[in-house]
Amino acid sequence: MIEFIDIHKSFGPKHVLRGVSLTVEQGQVLYLVGSSGAGKSVLVKHLVGLLRPDSGRIVLDGRDITWLSEAEFYPVRKKCAMVFQNSTLFDSMTVLDNVALPYRKHHRLDRAEASRRALEKLALVDMEHAARRFPGDLGDGLRKRVAIARALTLDPEFVIFDEPTTGLDPVAAANVDQLIRSLRNDTGVTAIVVSHDLRSIFTVADRIAMIYEGHIRLDGTPEDFRRSADPVVSQFIHGRPDGPMKI
Ligand SMILES: Nc1ncnc2c1ncn2[C@@H]1O[C@H](COP(=O)(O)OP(=O)(O)O)[C@@H](O)[C@H]1O
Ligand SMILES: [Mg+2]
Repeated sequence: MIEFIDIHKSFGPKHVLRGVSLTVEQGQVLYLVGSSGAGKSVLVKHLVGLLRPDSGRIVLDGRDITWLSEAEFYPVRKKCAMVFQNSTLFDSMTVLDNVALPYRKHHRLDRAEASRRALEKLALVDMEHAARRFPGDLGDGLRKRVAIARALTLDPEFVIFDEPTTGLDPVAAANVDQLIRSLRNDTGVTAIVVSHDLRSIFTVADRIAMIYEGHIRLDGTPEDFRRSADPVVSQFIHGRPDGPMKI
């Protein structure tokens, strides 16, 4: 379970998070939505220690991780993987070697065993066929799948996807959605997905939380969002350019 408790975070005079409280239950896929610059990436970066709050607490699996030292964060990052929008794969290494790297580095496995496990993760994202290819030869959607496979190498209990479908064509985006859904079903992973892809949100999310002006504006099921009479929420859901929300 992931808990953010009354998180405040400012950058200079900009008060980005103004008391964000949010809980993600075990095994749930929560979509975090909101306009560009709302603070979605800022919020999730607190989970892996990339940012520290000005006040408030972050609790992961019952453990307060807010003020862990860099060394103490190391095991937390194995448990909680993050797939960034521009996931960087090494272009000089094959897909297989890219995914095998965490096994060699963190688990100190030999090449054969690391490769065997990497192939298992590639199978999970349906990419074994590309094992011997180089990332630069693959399209964006396939590269994203490889990045996801690599994030899964250390068998994380929690995975944070920051805009996994942004920049993908609709078919590649639908494949990534399908992948997130099957991960949840097959591995029981708990996930936060930052997205403004409405199609993804409504096909994959168990819950949706919308961040607006530093607060959680609505936290509920996709149905709650569809039915909401809140003009900010409905503007987002219906993608209207007019309304109270500054886009
Ligand atoms: N390291 C930083 N230093 C200063 N300002 C930042 C930093 N990270 C994010 N911000 C600001 O915080 C706001 C929220 O950013 P972000 O969380 O990236 O938005 P988004 O919801 O689009 O992911 C933005 O105005 C951004 O400029
Ligand atoms: Mg962002």
